[in-house]
Amino acid sequence: MSKCKSFDEVIYFCDGKKCCRYNEEAKSCLKELLNDTGLNKNVLLEKMKCQGMCKSAPVFYINSEKKYKKEVTKKKAKKLFDKYIVA
Ligand code: FES
Repeated sequence: MSKCKSFDEVIYFCDGKKCCRYNEEAKSCLKELLNDTGLNKNVLLEKMKCQGMCKSAPVFYINSEKKYKKEVTKKKAKKLFDKYIVA
């Protein structure tokens, strides 16, 4: 979690054994949104280790809010982007 210095925001996605099976859609959705809006220069998408919440896979974490987001689907990823990144 050391790369956050030069970015305004960091979105972590769990890449643990369980989450990595389910996070692909949400991850690529966020990647696409960041690239399309040019916000990829300000917002870093970074992986993190298993957070011990495997039942709620896939797990994401919004650094500025210090909040975990559980069961992040593509739809939830879009909402998360609108609420925390664009707003
Ligand atoms: S694998 Fe993601 S919380 Fe355990």
